[in-house]
Amino acid sequence: MKVKTFRNGFVSTFILFLTVDSISSKNVLIIIADDAGFETSVYNNTVCKTPNLNKLAERSSIFTNAFTSVSSCSPSRSVILSGLPQHQNGMYGLHQDVHHFMSFDGVESLPKIIHKAGIRTGIIGKKHVGPETVYPFDFEETEENNSILQVGRNITNIKLLVRKFLSQDKSSPFLLYIGFHDPHRCGHTHPQYGQFCEKFGDGSPGMGFMPDWTPLTYNPDDVIVPYFVQDTPAARRDIAAQYTTISRLDQGIGLVLRELEIAGYLDDTLIIYTSDNGIPFPNGRTNLYDSGITEPFLLSSPLHRSTWGMEIQKLVSHVDIVPTVLDWFKIQYPQYELLHNPVILTGRSLLPLLCNKDRESEEVIFTSHNLHEVTMYYPMRSIRTKHFKLLHNLNYLMPFQIDQDFFISNTFQDLLNRTREGISTHWYKNLKQYYYRSQWEFFDLSTDPQERINQIKNDKYTEIIKYLKEQLHQWQNITSDAWICQPQGILENKGYYKNSPHCFSAGYGV
Ligand SMILES: *[C@@H]1O[C@H](CO)[C@@H](O)[C@H](O)[C@H]1NC(C)=O
Ligand SMILES: *[C@@H]1O[C@H](CO)[C@@H](O)[C@H](O)[C@H]1NC(C)=O
Ligand SMILES: *[C@@H]1O[C@H](CO)[C@@H](O)[C@H](O)[C@H]1NC(C)=O
Ligand SMILES: *[C@@H]1O[C@H](CO)[C@@H](O)[C@H](O)[C@H]1NC(C)=O
Ligand SMILES: *[C@@H]1O[C@H](CO)[C@@H](O)[C@H](O)[C@H]1NC(C)=O
Repeated sequence: MKVKTFRNGFVSTFILFLTVDSISSKNVLIIIADDAGFETSVYNNTVCKTPNLNKLAERSSIFTNAFTSVSSCSPSRSVILSGLPQHQNGMYGLHQDVHHFMSFDGVESLPKIIHKAGIRTGIIGKKHVGPETVYPFDFEETEENNSILQVGRNITNIKLLVRKFLSQDKSSPFLLYIGFHDPHRCGHTHPQYGQFCEKFGDGSPGMGFMPDWTPLTYNPDDVIVPYFVQDTPAARRDIAAQYTTISRLDQGIGLVLRELEIAGYLDDTLIIYTSDNGIPFPNGRTNLYDSGITEPFLLSSPLHRSTWGMEIQKLVSHVDIVPTVLDWFKIQYPQYELLHNPVILTGRSLLPLLCNKDRESEEVIFTSHNLHEVTMYYPMRSIRTKHFKLLHNLNYLMPFQIDQDFFISNTFQDLLNRTREGISTHWYKNLKQYYYRSQWEFFDLSTDPQERINQIKNDKYTEIIKYLKEQLHQWQNITSDAWICQPQGILENKGYYKNSPHCFSAGYGV
């Protein structure tokens, strides 16, 4: 008898817990910076001042080994919102203008799944993914019907939009996704505002004004030049401008968190802060080298205060964001097929890491890149463990392509000028190496964290390379990678081969 009463009591408390705690009072805020890196003292850069990110870090777990799945804007955002690598969700390159990439119509994205579960969804700022039917939000103020500068860089405007979203419906749990456009470069689209739009709204003549922004400026001599950028005056000036733009991002984040607090949600909202891809400097964005894929990543859970301010060294990936948010809301990922194959998420929830629980899987992350701009076809796949990186450049016979935005930058022009003039570039690579890559690259990160020495032919690593190639192939297989047999093979998976897909050699070497 006693046991039964206890069990009934337990059951009803459990149901109460589910409805009150898990559903009606837990929200999610995702903040995505645009091309941001580690320019913050949260990650030991003591020059670039980010008091608001520091404050967020004090109530977050700080991931020191977080990676994007692809180092390009739209593809990366499609992974963040779908949990599927770009080759599986179909967003192969940039979404805007002539590039026109879209995810497959059948993709079940995060906003779609959680809307069905009664959670209100909102997006403010840079969206940059499509189609609308795959990525619908209940509240949308994005570049699709606003100026990107106003919804992505004007932090006063962003603050007001957040206020509007939070005041519209006080009863439903929500997911709010904020895509800052800072600190993206701007010399390609709005050169009048400076290389990083660092002058936009700074109050100087013709630049407009933003009541909530106090610009911080930096002396180029003082900035920290990452190892993969040439240490020259031109690059330093770019970095100083980037830091100023980061002061706007940082103060914008402060305003958003303040709105959350005023609306009473700070203590029941899971907050994720990360960036879409590597910084727009040589060897950064559009590359799958670590300099292009490592990301800042803060996870702030009001339910895991004991981990606040702590560093987590585990390897995590943007593919983990969808499982984490679903875990937080206690929602199942749906069962469905894409490209005639069942879809499974390869990412894992990060919440167990906040309870000091190990995730069952071994620490491996995968990356997959096809294009950035439509002209920049350079498919790459990689697998990275704590100590090793195996990188497959499928289109290695072509030069690696440079994007419009980066090409016109002072940093790149400086590199090009110096190379042409035959004077020292002060860079750790040369452009010829950078453009022409081997089909396979293998790095021993424990002795070579900057990935300078390709060890693919070193006998010492034969076993591990073989193992990583198998793992990579297996992952390409379960994520329905159409490039799985590339570049030497042809995949046959229809007709006779429907039930036993096979890579055939095309004999290109004949
Ligand atoms: C900052 O530097 C310290 C000392 O080298 C190191 O222990 C810590 O892990 C670094 N923190 C981050 C977030 O990189
Ligand atoms: C932008 O589109 C959304 C969704 O259709 C709509 O709710 C919003 O009012 C529009 N905003 C502007 C500024 O037109
Ligand atoms: C930023 O937005 C605010 C509020 O909408 C507006 O008053 C201000 O002029 C805008 N600033 C710029 C530089 O566009
Ligand atoms: C590169 O060289 C061109 C042509 O001499 C010059 O106009 C330009 O200012 C140089 N750019 C940089 C960043 O050095
Ligand atoms: C993918 O895996 C399935 C099941 O193990 C196998 O039948 C198929 O041949 C694999 N495809 C390729 C291209 O290796």
